[in-house]
Amino acid sequence: MRVLEAIRDRRSIKKFSERPVTREEIEELLEAAALAPNHRLTNPWRFYVLGPEARYQYGFALGARKAKKIEDPAAAQTMRENVANEHRALPGMIVFAVVETDNVEQREEDYAATLMAIQNFSLAAMELGLGTHIKTGAIMSDPAARAAARVQDNERIVAGHAVWQHENPEVIAEIADVRHTQVGTSVTTSSLAYYVQAAYRLPAPARLWKPYYRFEHIDIDSNDVVFADVPNLDVSIFGVRYDISTYVCIKTEGRIRRRAANLPWTNGWFSQIAFTF
Ligand SMILES: Cc1cc2nc3c(=O)[nH]c(=O)nc-3n(C[C@H](O)[C@H](O)[C@H](O)COP(=O)(O)O)c2cc1C
Repeated sequence: MRVLEAIRDRRSIKKFSERPVTREEIEELLEAAALAPNHRLTNPWRFYVLGPEARYQYGFALGARKAKKIEDPAAAQTMRENVANEHRALPGMIVFAVVETDNVEQREEDYAATLMAIQNFSLAAMELGLGTHIKTGAIMSDPAARAAARVQDNERIVAGHAVWQHENPEVIAEIADVRHTQVGTSVTTSSLAYYVQAAYRLPAPARLWKPYYRFEHIDIDSNDVVFADVPNLDVSIFGVRYDISTYVCIKTEGRIRRRAANLPWTNGWFSQIAFTF
């Protein structure tokens, strides 16, 4: 992905799928964040990756602030619990902090550099197909939230940053219409191929599983001499994918297919291990 594309396409993403964000992805994004320009090379940023329990505590602190305006004790408790649970359910959350110094000029520069690190993080996330959303507010100086994120006394929280993949449900399709014209004649052929796939990542605790259905179709023009050896195809594929890690998954799928309208349908069962590099 080109930088300009990432800048143009980045949006604050507020809905997320259940797909976990992996440690490798977070590390890659934080490496990009730490490459941000910073005056005097102070590397002023601190990154706190919150696990589910820390997210719950941070959310509870935020919920407690919102609950202050609610008079009914039961409703206030529900508010605290709901916000805490919403935070625990996030696929990923990073607290970006900056080390504070007494030098006012440097403090400004360091704060600005940390925001640039956050932007690096957000744009790099685009490359990995991940959505992000910056959150700020009075919560950042709340002692309970600071304790949940484990920031040090001399650090100021700059932003809470959520990161996740938005893929539920996923629908992808491609279509190709290949035209050939025989040299010296006016005969032009048109051969069509397409596929449509719908997939749905299951909610936690089964989020490593992703069932899918795909239909593929190839229809070669009977006058197409270039594709004369390519068989037609209609195939329905029902499968499920299991993500072993970011780079490896297992797919097992049933295929029902026929090579031409006048030929019988045949059934098959296939399993594969797929790698991403
Ligand atoms: C410094 C900063 C703080 C932000 N704080 C919040 C926030 O507290 N809550 C929120 O919903 N969005 C927050 N945002 C996201 C902005 O609302 C969002 O970037 C803006 O609406 C533009 O939308 P876009 O990011 O999709 O372009 C923040 C963004 C920045 C840069």
